[in-house]
Amino acid sequence: MDNEFIFKDFFEIRSGKVQWRSPSNIALIKYWGKKTGQIPLNPSLSFSLTKCFTKTTITFKKNKSSFPKYHFLFHGEKTPSFERKIDGFFSRILKYCPYILDIEMKIESFNSFPHSSGIASSASSFGALSLCIMEIEKTLNPKIDEVYFFKKASFISRLGSGSACRSIYDKFSIWGESIISGSNDLYAIPFNKKIHNSFNYLCDTILIVDKSKKEFSSTKGHELMSGHFYAESRMIQVESNFSKLVESLQSGNYDLFIKTVESEALALHAMMMTSDPYFILMKSRTLEIIKALWEFRRASGTKLCFTLDAGANVHIIYPREEFNNVQNFISQKLISYCENGEFINDTIGTGPLKL
Ligand code: PMV
Repeated sequence: MDNEFIFKDFFEIRSGKVQWRSPSNIALIKYWGKKTGQIPLNPSLSFSLTKCFTKTTITFKKNKSSFPKYHFLFHGEKTPSFERKIDGFFSRILKYCPYILDIEMKIESFNSFPHSSGIASSASSFGALSLCIMEIEKTLNPKIDEVYFFKKASFISRLGSGSACRSIYDKFSIWGESIISGSNDLYAIPFNKKIHNSFNYLCDTILIVDKSKKEFSSTKGHELMSGHFYAESRMIQVESNFSKLVESLQSGNYDLFIKTVESEALALHAMMMTSDPYFILMKSRTLEIIKALWEFRRASGTKLCFTLDAGANVHIIYPREEFNNVQNFISQKLISYCENGEFINDTIGTGPLKL
């Protein structure tokens, strides 16, 4: 099944420099739990952001070794915790990108969003790194077409971090076998159905509730889904939510969209709170924000909703037309719940960019 991604053409490797930036993404239907080999338990659907991205540069030269030789700098500094993740990534992609044994790489990475703001950066980091690796592959085989380029970039980025495989495209993407034709467990695909106009310009304001490092990693959380008491029910729920979300995106049914997105966010955290061991990533301020948002929506009829990733920060999702309205609400009612009053106004994005 993964044979199409094994690099077989051997051309002379040269030195060079490649550079890509890749956006972060926010899942509306959540990936939580995996089978072996980074295969998701369920399909997920997300959209790419604009302002939150990682920019990565790889400068490489010929140098053979038995394990990929690299020097990694994050914001100009050595970061051993990232190196462990990159080692794991390289060992998993070796079979598909054997040419990384023929080069020595200097990898430099920058995040656009504030360092340690509590925003997960693995999706954009592995997205950008994978696109750079594919750019190196393209120097070896310039005949690679665009579809294959992005498909394999998504495939290898999945091996770095599952959610990263959805950071390879603009707007909405799907990863995991689902009702959408062509969707599969090995790589993400762009959402290939017509989206109603109301979702073309979605905004995502990320309220920074807690900047500290997560007490419980997503890797551990995914693992706890095997043998989870509610795993089977969760699969039934996610299938139903997936269909509802697709229906709302196509029909423009905003109420259905809101209900489904919030159901998914709470279901994700419910899985965490009912696993063995159980854990809670939300903070009391997360709940205060949710309560205030529900109250505001009831009173004003504004079409906004929230979602959460594996952390305490709250993503507020709304259409562009509601921007001023939502900004007023945030500055009057929510800013006091944010760490140092910080939040990021982002929007649905145009995808990765070759620099
Ligand atoms: O890609 P990972 O292993 O960090 O998992 C991310 C999981 C969630 O962010 C909670 C959900 C998702 O689909 O992005």
